[in-house]
Parts: sequence; C-alpha cells; structure tokens
Amino acid sequence: MRDVAIVGVGLTRFGERWNSGLKELMAEAGLAALEDASVSSRDVEMLYGGTMASGKFVGQEHTAALMADQLGFSNIPAVRIENACASGGSALRQGYIAVASGIHDVVVVGGVEKMTDVTASEATTALGGAGDQEWELFQGITFPGLYALIAKRHMFEYGTTEEQMASVAVKNHENACKNQFAQFRKSLTVDEVMRSKVVSDPLKLLDCSPISDGAAAVVLAPLETAKKYNDTPIKIMASAQASDTLRLADREKLTELKATKLAAQNAYKQAKVTAKDIDVVEVHDCFTIAEILAMEDLGIYQKGKAAKAIADGETALNGKVSVNTSGGLKGCGHPVGATGVKQAAEIVWQLRGEAKDRQVKDAEIGMTHNVGGSGATAVVHIYKRAD
Ligand SMILES: CC(C)(COP(=O)(O)OP(=O)(O)OC[C@H]1O[C@@H](n2cnc3c(N)ncnc32)[C@H](O)[C@@H]1OP(=O)(O)O)[C@@H](O)C(=O)NCCC(=O)NCCS
Repeated sequence: MRDVAIVGVGLTRFGERWNSGLKELMAEAGLAALEDASVSSRDVEMLYGGTMASGKFVGQEHTAALMADQLGFSNIPAVRIENACASGGSALRQGYIAVASGIHDVVVVGGVEKMTDVTASEATTALGGAGDQEWELFQGITFPGLYALIAKRHMFEYGTTEEQMASVAVKNHENACKNQFAQFRKSLTVDEVMRSKVVSDPLKLLDCSPISDGAAAVVLAPLETAKKYNDTPIKIMASAQASDTLRLADREKLTELKATKLAAQNAYKQAKVTAKDIDVVEVHDCFTIAEILAMEDLGIYQKGKAAKAIADGETALNGKVSVNTSGGLKGCGHPVGATGVKQAAEIVWQLRGEAKDRQVKDAEIGMTHNVGGSGATAVVHIYKRAD
C-alpha cells in the first residue's frame, strides 16, 4: 500500500444555482481542483464521481463519464459511485484505494448534485430512495421523519432538548457566514430556530439541511510524488467505511449510528490517533440531531454528553474541537452527491492554513464523516499535513 495525498481541491458555491446545469457545476469544481493541483487533464488516469439521484433530479444518469467528458479527460476509466448522501465520501475512498494500491497515480474524485430544479415534494421522494422503500417510505415516512424518530428517542434517553439541537444550527450558520461557498451566509438565533415551522416534530425547518445545487472535486496522487503538484500536500492517514441496516426498525439502538462507530474505530486504528487528537472535523449534520449523534459515535463525546457541550460552545470555531467550520450541511448546503467531497476540501484548506476567516488555529489533524441515508453507510477519513 502506498501513502496517498490530496494535491488539489475545488468547489462551486452551494445553493440555488439556477444559471448552472449539472455539467457546468461539474466543470466549475473539477477545473478549480485541477488548477489548484497544477495538474493537466492529460495526467489524470481515473475518475470516480459521486452522485446520488441525478436521474430523479435532472433526468441525467451516466454522470461519471459525463464528468470526465466535461473535464477533458480523454478516454480514461470513469466510475459513478452511488451511496446515497455518502456518495461523495465513498467516491473519495475508492479514489484512495486506486492510488494506494498502485493501480493509478493521478485520480480525480468529484461529487455533484443539482436538486433545486424539482419541487420540494419531488426532492423528498428522490431523497427517500436512501431508505427502505417497502418498509419505510411507502408507509409514508420521509427523511426528516426518520431523523425525528431518532431525535425523540435521544431526548427520551438523554434529556436532549430542542434548544440544544437548535444550537447546532446556530453554530453552523455562524461558520457558514465566513464561507464564500456557503448557501446560507446568515446568522441565526436559538429563538429563530425554535420559531421556524415544524417539519417533523421535534425537527423544525431550521433544524434541517436544505435542498442544494453544487459540486466539489479533489485530486489524489501518491504521497511520494505529491510535491510535484502542490507545495502543501495533505496526507490521507485513514480511510474507513462501514454499513448498517437500511431500516431504522432493525437497529439495535435508535440513539447511535453503529456504522459511524465502526468506521471511526477503524479509522483511528489506521491513523494511530484517538478522538482527542482531532483538531477540526466536518461531520454529517443533515439534521441537527445528526451532528449530536456524530459527535458521540465518533467518540469525541460520551453518549448523551454532546448536546450540552455543543450548546456550551465547545465545538465552535477554535473551541475545544472545531466542528463543521464550512457551515456543515446545515449552513453550507447539502447537494447530496457533492457533500462528502466538499468535506474533504474544507479539511484540506484548514490543514493548509488557507481557511481565511474560519481558520482553526494550529490545525494539525482533521477528519471527515459522511453518512448515507439514516446511517446505513458511514465513511470516515483522517488527514494531516505531509511534511
Ligand atoms: C426543510 C425543507 C423541507 C424545507 O423545504 P420547503 O418547506 O420547501 O422550504 P422552501 O423552499 O419553501 O423555503 C422557505 C424559506 O426557507 C429557506 N429554507 C429552506 N430550507 C431551509 C433550511 N434547511 N435551512 C434554512 N433555510 C431554509 C428558503 O431559502 C426560503 O427562504 P426565503 O423565503 O427567504 O426564500 C427542505 O429543505 C428539506 O427537505 N430539507 C431536508 C433535506 C434532506 O432530507 N436531505 C437529505 C438528508 S439525509
């Protein structure tokens, strides 16, 4: 196995991108990543593209070949990775494996989704494909509904409050205000979250990540030659993934995502670090309760302790650990296929010291956590600056 580094990253602004189609979004992010890495399209040997439901959102399948075409990669192998909202993180892991194995040297990993061309109801149906159609979605539950069940149980078992959940959204919007790529550059108060309309009790509109358009891309290369492309390569210290039951009803516990726990344990082992060593982390906050679960299942807080810590400001920018400095899915936006790749781009900027107003002081070790559906897939990566 070879060490692998990220040598280039690129992002589009997330949000309602009505003047850009799927192709333009792919090109915008991909070309930015190639430029960042000083890599010519002729050097790229393989592309993995994360997209969750482009067929339902814009009628377009076969998105990896389209991405390669848009970026001028002539005839290289291109593979689409679909793993619900973890499509981007899973694509990154496939790219990592391709370089680590020695099969390919320069690999581009992209992620894209264009979600705002359909109605909210059509988007809800498309996103519902990440759950068990027969046993969950046909029975009438939606994704906000599934996470609301998790939230209710967490409140019952650990006394978590709606105000504590709201504080996740407040923190993430605060960070998003400092991110030029974010969908919502608007701060919120706990009171505003509490007064927003109920989507699925106890989750309110401002507890939810939005419907978004956007794309992200990273360029991977073997660590030994990474400096050829970038003066500050970021080493991927660990790449881990785990699965769990698609149906919530089959889970041992509603208050944890076992796939996150397993992927995190494996990642810490690979990287030879513990949760305490992580300075900055992008976690999958598709709903505010999901960030609370993530902080616990990643081992950063004990079960039942994260909500209070977040409300007390421990995970704010330059807090005890800085969480979702990009604004997370809540504030930065959640174009589902792009999210896992965007998380990696944010951590790369943090570890390079290029995160501007949202820079975490002395950030050395970063982590990303990307979840598919209600937790049937979890992908965890750990990174550090290569010296
Ligand atoms: C929460 C949700 C239902 C809101 O959709 P909606 O009711 O159709 O909302 P609208 O599009 O009518 O937007 C109403 C306003 O709220 C804003 N808004 C919408 N969703 C928002 C969100 N999640 N956070 C903050 N503001 C939001 C809109 O910008 C709009 O503001 P404006 O009036 O100033 O233009 C939708 O964003 C949603 O389904 N989110 C969850 C997505 C999801 O499940 N992802 C997968 C996770 S696993």
